[in-house]
Amino acid sequence: MKIGVLQEPGFENRVSILPETTKVLSKLKVDFWVEKGAGIRAIAADSEYSDAGASLGSRDEVIAKADVLLSINTPPADTLGKLRKGQVVISVFNPLSEKEELEKLLKTEQTYFSMDLIPRTTRGQAMDILSSMATISGYKAVLDAAMHLPNFFPMFMTAAGTIRPAKVLILGAGVAGLQAIAIARKLGAVVEVFDVRAAVKEQVESLGGKFVEVEGAKDDAAAGGYAVEQDEDFKKKQKQLIHDHAAASNVIICTAQIPGRKAPLLIEKHTLEAMKAGSVIVDLAASSGGNCELSEDNKTVVREGVTIIGKSNYPSDMPNDASRMYGNNLANFLKIMIDENGGLQMNFEDEIVKGTCMIHNKEIVSDRLKDYYKA
Ligand code: NAI
Repeated sequence: MKIGVLQEPGFENRVSILPETTKVLSKLKVDFWVEKGAGIRAIAADSEYSDAGASLGSRDEVIAKADVLLSINTPPADTLGKLRKGQVVISVFNPLSEKEELEKLLKTEQTYFSMDLIPRTTRGQAMDILSSMATISGYKAVLDAAMHLPNFFPMFMTAAGTIRPAKVLILGAGVAGLQAIAIARKLGAVVEVFDVRAAVKEQVESLGGKFVEVEGAKDDAAAGGYAVEQDEDFKKKQKQLIHDHAAASNVIICTAQIPGRKAPLLIEKHTLEAMKAGSVIVDLAASSGGNCELSEDNKTVVREGVTIIGKSNYPSDMPNDASRMYGNNLANFLKIMIDENGGLQMNFEDEIVKGTCMIHNKEIVSDRLKDYYKA
């Protein structure tokens, strides 16, 4: 089988797989075709790919040669339009929110796997790109906040006076939130955390954060560990409590999301007005509507004296390790679809293959996706 690696669009610095990972997979008798320049922004030169045994070519050559194409961002329409019947594309299609794109692809004759659908099971962990990218986002969000804050994070006792530690409020204790707690604590901040899932309390506390509980949260075991939409009464109580804690904070890291839905609105304008001037909010949910009312996706703005950084793609700012992690996740996924002769075997009996497959034979394959659009 030939695996093609596409160059990402201009706004993206990552590449789906680094040379070191193509080399590992080549031992399974697969060949790589890499679009020239694909790895440059991720610090992987064309020569490193050829040293690892890959062939380099133009985009059209890669599309023509490959049986399976890899990318991170959904390939643009002109690329998809050049695909052959039966070709396989493994990318991140965000099918829970990009319904129109899904409908377009359902009319085509290719097979599509979307890495954001990897089932969140123990076996799926090594392939879970949402987790690895969220780890980067949580880490970078705290560093970015520290760079924008006109104050120290740690406490300092100096001859010039005592500096109090920064107070960091983290909304959402999923993968990004937990990483943010760890980094903020390492930098010496005092950390408070909100989440609707009481199950994370222990994890928050083990990282040195203080869990602020809002009574009456709705938890749904069927949601596979994800949060579910809360009722109005809960939302009101939570907003008030967040308002009180936000007013006392220097930094807020927003990570609260509900898959396939608009992010919960947790910080309204009147809360911003109550915050200290110079405070910083990093909104990782900016691309799905934001946890903060005034955040703008891909922009840093100052509102009511508060710096609001709306950013959902921090991994692109750390492209080398981000590509390493993404590529390793991808390699672990590919390994279950490569047979002993280096051929492609899509075993839809395998819960990971089935769960990650968005479309095959013009039909939705993933049960999660089917249920989502049935509901
Ligand atoms: P996410 O990105 O979907 O959401 C981030 C966090 O925001 C979650 O903890 C969620 O509970 C919280 N949240 C949502 N609405 C909120 C609200 N209104 N107020 C406060 N917090 C709110 O979450 P992520 O990081 O993708 O993790 C989701 C779940 O998946 C977790 O239970 C995690 O442990 C689990 N997981 C399992 C894996 C596996 O077994 N392979 C791998 C990674 C995560």
